Amino acid sequence: MKKDFLSITDLTENEIMHVFARADAFKKGERSSALSSKSVVLVFEKASTRTRVSFEAGISRLGGHPVVLTPDASQMGRGEPIKDTARILSGYAHAIVMRTFGHSRIEEMASWADVPVINALTDLLHPCQVLSDCFTLKQRFGDLRGRKIGWVGDGNNMANSWINAASLFGFDLWLACPEGFGPERKIMDAAISRGARIELVGDPRDAARDAIAVNTDVWASMGQEQEAGLREEKFKGFQVDSDLMALAASNAVFMHCLPAHRGQEVSEEVLESPRSIVWEQALNRLYVQMALMELLMQERNG
Ligand code: CP
Ligand code: NVA
Repeated sequence: MKKDFLSITDLTENEIMHVFARADAFKKGERSSALSSKSVVLVFEKASTRTRVSFEAGISRLGGHPVVLTPDASQMGRGEPIKDTARILSGYAHAIVMRTFGHSRIEEMASWADVPVINALTDLLHPCQVLSDCFTLKQRFGDLRGRKIGWVGDGNNMANSWINAASLFGFDLWLACPEGFGPERKIMDAAISRGARIELVGDPRDAARDAIAVNTDVWASMGQEQEAGLREEKFKGFQVDSDLMALAASNAVFMHCLPAHRGQEVSEEVLESPRSIVWEQALNRLYVQMALMELLMQERNG
């Protein structure tokens, strides 16, 4: 049976431990030819720098061949249905990595494809990023159980994925979002029912206080460009600056998935400060995704 990765919750705790151990080995220079003679199709319906390059590079390092499809250069952009594309790609490739808009598009791809489908970001979730961010935090702080992590800003795909991660890693997640811009209620409720400890607050200071990590993301995500002006108004007061970081734990780090907008969700000073681990986060995407592909693609031959 193939296994997809559409959400962090698609992995068991044991699988996550295995992925992190392999990612650590890859980071230390371990080589693998797990994808030798295998192809991976990367469907990008939205822009990307880190995700696209880290997947392409990771596939090459594992001995595989990446094929990138974008809407303008494929029949997908001319209206060929996902269910048709999924069945065609399954014959040529051994996995499909997809970045798209509505989450239902990747669910449809996964339901029709008979190879593993990996979520490279949807409007709802960004699981590869948050899985990798949890690896980055565990490398620095060890066990995350009972530690406080703060989220400041939009309750977007990143925030939703942090909520999913909270029950798996056992940290306390405090989210400060402007009124009307909170995370997806269904994801919160499901995480809480799995035992996640999540606090939704209105004041960024409550999210940052004593946290080991203060996290933020853009105020207007891809697809929300027309709302950028309105969001800039509504998100005033939700910038992670030095005053906010001063409330966090003395060894706290600043996190951002990037790209960052200096002067909006984060000040230049914080982004460039020694507390900022954004470059390490971006680098770790490569190793964690290599480990993830190795896990998901291990059963499939031919
Ligand atoms: N963080 C992240 O996913 O970056 P890209 O949009 O550049 O892939
Ligand atoms: N929330 C952002 C993340 C970009 C990596 C977006 O969806 O555009």
